[in-house]
Amino acid sequence: MHKIILSLLLVGCASTAAARPDIEPLARTCNGCHGVGGVSVSGPMPSIGGLPKEYLKRIMKQWKYGERNAVTMDRIVKGFSDDQLDALAEYFSKQPWVPVPQPASEAVLAKGKAAVEENCRDCHGLTGNDPDVEVPKINGQWSKYMELELLKYRSGVFKMPHRKMKQAAHDMKPEEVSATSRYFGAQGK
Ligand code: HEC
Ligand code: HEC
Repeated sequence: MHKIILSLLLVGCASTAAARPDIEPLARTCNGCHGVGGVSVSGPMPSIGGLPKEYLKRIMKQWKYGERNAVTMDRIVKGFSDDQLDALAEYFSKQPWVPVPQPASEAVLAKGKAAVEENCRDCHGLTGNDPDVEVPKINGQWSKYMELELLKYRSGVFKMPHRKMKQAAHDMKPEEVSATSRYFGAQGK
């Protein structure tokens, strides 16, 4: 009797192990838009390699379960099981974060920095490279992508569960949206 239970347990373990997806081929389906290793080579597509695992897991589930609006990603994540999404989050979080610093004028950088020091630094750090697992890295993220995201968060109809970030975006002066995006986009570290 014990033997039977033991072998059933073993079969159970073996099948969960086998169900764990081979993640490389799945991750390659993201390359076309997000770049090899999640390093995007063109804005407005965001880089995703090296973002915190908890953040990646959270937002992909939010898209899948209709808690967060998206242009494209909500449809893409519906094709994956929760286990596959967790494995994808783990895979991309282990890739290095590669900032792509984009040049901006001194005047824009100064305006962006002043707004960041006042309203964004507590959570994102001065350059956007905060180590908090909740907060995505945005130093050297594509500024065009960030600007579009901030505009969405500011709109009344965009569904997004993170109230504090939504509020921070809402509280910005209109001209700060572009300046802070360009400031963070210009940071290498
Ligand atoms: C057809 C292009 C396309 C493909 C393929 C694609 N994405 Fe995206 N991704 C986008 C777009 C566009 C956004 C911006 C959010 C939206 O959909 O509005 C985005 C945003 C993201 C973000 C948020 C990035 C951030 O900085 O917060 C993550 C994470 C992400 N995608 C993961 C993935 C993963 C994992 C795959 C592969 C399974 C994938 N994407 C495949 C187009 C794509
Ligand atoms: C209370 C903490 C907090 C403050 C203040 C804050 N942020 Fe955020 N920010 C976050 C978190 C957490 C996220 C991820 C939210 C989510 O999508 O679930 C985020 C997301 C973002 C994103 C999207 C990043 C991506 O990869 O998709 C941008 C851009 C951004 N913040 C810019 C700013 C700017 C500019 C300010 C200042 C005006 C600011 N944030 C203030 C916590 C904060």
